[in-house]
Amino acid sequence: MNHQARLTRQYHFCAAHRLHAKELSDDVNRKVFGKCNNLNGHGHNYTVLVTVRGEIDALTGEITDLERLDRLVTTTILERFDHRHLNHDPAFQDVVTTGENVARFIWDELVDAIPLGQLEKIGLIETRDNYFEYQGDRHG
Ligand code: NI
Repeated sequence: MNHQARLTRQYHFCAAHRLHAKELSDDVNRKVFGKCNNLNGHGHNYTVLVTVRGEIDALTGEITDLERLDRLVTTTILERFDHRHLNHDPAFQDVVTTGENVARFIWDELVDAIPLGQLEKIGLIETRDNYFEYQGDRHG
């Protein structure tokens, strides 16, 4: 018997970034990233949507432990990125800070640490018009 459900929890952080690929010339960077390549960077109010899938526990009626999930996301993601410049983070020294890559990084940090249930998807809202999703391979 299988009673799977999904829960999506929202988190927020504010951070600056600059889209710039070190391997590309300044000219090409300007063409590819446009105003997002601006030398001084710019900021976003990011929303992270963490979707966890799991078996509904017969006793609690829940699929995961929200308190532990919140603690995990707060310590690994929010405290690391909130009010920082993403390009200065060690994770993004050779990786462009696009929404795709930020979502992928969050997936990689969380996938093996979800307290109960399995990570299903990371959603990342960057602007009113930009929403990214990342679903990596499930480890373990
Ligand atoms: Ni941006």
